[in-house]
Amino acid sequence: MDSNHQERPKQFYEAAYSDSGKGSYGGDSTDETWVCRINSQKQITTDWLRRLGVRFEADEPVLELGCGLAYLADVHPGYIGLEFSSTAVARVGSSTSKIRIQQGDMQNIPFEDESIAALFTWAAMGHVPNPGTAIKEIMRVLKPGGGQSLHPHGIAVLGQ
Ligand SMILES: C[S@@+](CC[C@H](N)C(=O)[O-])C[C@H]1O[C@@H](n2cnc3c(N)ncnc32)[C@H](O)[C@@H]1O
Repeated sequence: MDSNHQERPKQFYEAAYSDSGKGSYGGDSTDETWVCRINSQKQITTDWLRRLGVRFEADEPVLELGCGLAYLADVHPGYIGLEFSSTAVARVGSSTSKIRIQQGDMQNIPFEDESIAALFTWAAMGHVPNPGTAIKEIMRVLKPGGGQSLHPHGIAVLGQ
């Protein structure tokens, strides 16, 4: 990975998704290791959401921060992805799926206070220059109450 990804994040993340499917972050469905990682993330995230008592309904907004190409979109019917890279957002938007994804910075989450039922993020918080600001934003947008689940490379939190 480019060691400057925190110093000049915009260019880095635009480039990371810029080619058609095999960019550094693009994923490769022919790569068994990659497929295994995505499936594990899906399983763990689904377990988190179940354990935290999230309703699996479309009107329950569940936000993923730094979602990349939103490979985890099918973990919940109320899924919304937030992604810094407009290249990634454009790629997801041009696919035939109806995945809800929005361009934005997790240090300034473009959602109302107390509007999100549950939230998770994988392998993205470590790329943010000010993770403390992101944590404050997470606490702002989540509905009050709930719990959280931590993993060395991910976090899921629930507001109630
Ligand atoms: C290592 S990738 C992980 C992507 C995906 N979560 C996964 O596990 O495959 C880190 C992701 O975080 C995104 N990202 C980095 N900084 C961000 C920020 N400030 N706000 C939102 N997303 C950000 C990057 O564009 C990239 O998609």
